[in-house]
Amino acid sequence: MPENILIAIAWPYANAEIHVGNITGSHLPGDIIARYHRLKGDRVIMVSGTDSHGTPVTVRADEEGVSPLEVYRRYHAGFLELFQGMGISYDLFTSTHTENHFKVSQSIFLALKENGYLYTETRPQWYSPKASRFLPDRYIEGTCYICGAEGARSDQCDTCGNVLEPEKLLNPRSKVDDSTPELRDTEHYFLDLSKLEPDVAEFLRARKSYWRETVIGESLGKIEADGLKPRPITRDLDWGIPVPVEGWDGKSLYVWFEAVIGYLSAAIEWAHINGTPKAWEDWWTNPEAKAFYFIGKDNIFFHTAMWPAELMGAGEKFMQIFAGENDRRLTLPYDVPANQFMNLEGRKISGSRNWAVWGREALTRYDPDPLRYYLTINMPETKDSDWDWAEFVARNNNELVANWGNLANRVLSFCYKHWDGHVPDVDTSTLRDADLSLLTVVESGFQSVGDLLEAVHPRAALQEAMRLASEVNKYLDTSAPWFEIKKNKDEAAKSVYTALKAIDSLKVLFAPFIPFSSEKLHAYLGYGEPLFGEQYVETVNDGLGEHTALRYRGVEGLQWKPSDLQPGTLLQKPAPLFKKLDESVVEEERARLGK
Ligand code: MF3
Ligand code: ZN
Repeated sequence: MPENILIAIAWPYANAEIHVGNITGSHLPGDIIARYHRLKGDRVIMVSGTDSHGTPVTVRADEEGVSPLEVYRRYHAGFLELFQGMGISYDLFTSTHTENHFKVSQSIFLALKENGYLYTETRPQWYSPKASRFLPDRYIEGTCYICGAEGARSDQCDTCGNVLEPEKLLNPRSKVDDSTPELRDTEHYFLDLSKLEPDVAEFLRARKSYWRETVIGESLGKIEADGLKPRPITRDLDWGIPVPVEGWDGKSLYVWFEAVIGYLSAAIEWAHINGTPKAWEDWWTNPEAKAFYFIGKDNIFFHTAMWPAELMGAGEKFMQIFAGENDRRLTLPYDVPANQFMNLEGRKISGSRNWAVWGREALTRYDPDPLRYYLTINMPETKDSDWDWAEFVARNNNELVANWGNLANRVLSFCYKHWDGHVPDVDTSTLRDADLSLLTVVESGFQSVGDLLEAVHPRAALQEAMRLASEVNKYLDTSAPWFEIKKNKDEAAKSVYTALKAIDSLKVLFAPFIPFSSEKLHAYLGYGEPLFGEQYVETVNDGLGEHTALRYRGVEGLQWKPSDLQPGTLLQKPAPLFKKLDESVVEEERARLGK
């Protein structure tokens, strides 16, 4: 039975370019799992978008002296280009600055309000007498009251990873003019997380057995130790989603409160622009659907506590308000396989110091598959990992090129030349033990690689696929059709047929990770229909104006199964799948860092 799989990926802030740490942290693992389930014949939607509101974007706009809208549009356009180039196959990559998202977010807010989970309170907030305005979240920096680190933002400390209560920050300074802010009273809506704490804890306990330990520790562990406290979900900021209550002009929904709602609103938008306006419910009001959230470790709390609390608190009320339907609840996260961080050459990635490998820039010098390969084999699933240029070159040359690319190219070229562009026309009942046992080994990968991907371990899954490619190389070392052919072409034909069939299976096993090369190989092997669909950019119009979105047009069919390549099939002229990189790349790239 095909499953309904929602692949939900953290929404990047529209205030910075995306670097390799972001890609390996969330977008790439999400894409790998989405592609695997598509090949398996499951019904997948993979969504995300640009996180366009809040102080991350307004601080940037203030620094540049342009509007937040302009900042958001510029970064958003870059994101679409990156994901298309990198093959991050979003069914919809949209934005939080859409009429649809405003409406869905306001409906969640109202559902929570009607269910009694919101209250208002007047509290002191940082206010700049100099600028005559409140300065929420990232506008204020100072010393973390938990770990003592400098440069903590008032809402979150990047050093200890804690979410902070802004008014407790020590030595606060304004990001705008470095002046010292003072506390003034202002009224806000609060989400009463303490009321929802038992539900959140129960939700987490039910998933404890299969979630990553790091994620359970950060969520259930913390809740059991400290409990959940109410949190303000509105801000004194006009760039954002208006609070849908009369008299609340000039205030917006807190960016984290509404951005997570994007997972729901993007699915709704996807259904609408496809002309099937209710299709999103197959994922969102279907208790059997599985929702996977791909995020970095700094986002855990918001996805394992805040977002489930919003969904549970809104309950059936959301569907009543939004769709006029009763008795339907929204699907809770099935898994939140958050990753740790990737460092760069032994140091923390830092955009402002240009200590980063930027995704779009890297694509101007390298093909997407070598980048995807290295980012997967080094994925920070359980602990921080490191991007090292020497290792990138070595793994490209010794693993991707030597173990897999050369294997495919050598066998295909040899066959193309000596069997007149066709798969050798062997009688498959005459295959030898060694041939059959190689095929059994390679075909076991559909189980082993598949199991690892089901459990969201892309790194180990790719290692397993590589191991199986080595088995084919070993087989060829022994059977050596290049020598065999001189004595007995019929025997050589059996080896070539066997190797081609193994490569045809490996092509599928590698496809979630390195889809561009698998797609090429698929064509060389004579298939007419592609493995995957196509990505394209579309302009969508709604009440807020135009926005661009990245889309994916899928293809039907079940491909996650052993090759059934037929003897005699017509091949296409092959070409090498990957390029060997020169050692000089290492120094060139290192010289770019920190400049
Ligand atoms: N914009 C946030 C970040 O880059 C992530 C938001 S994930 C969301 O850290 F789901 F809330 F959108
Ligand atoms: Zn801290």
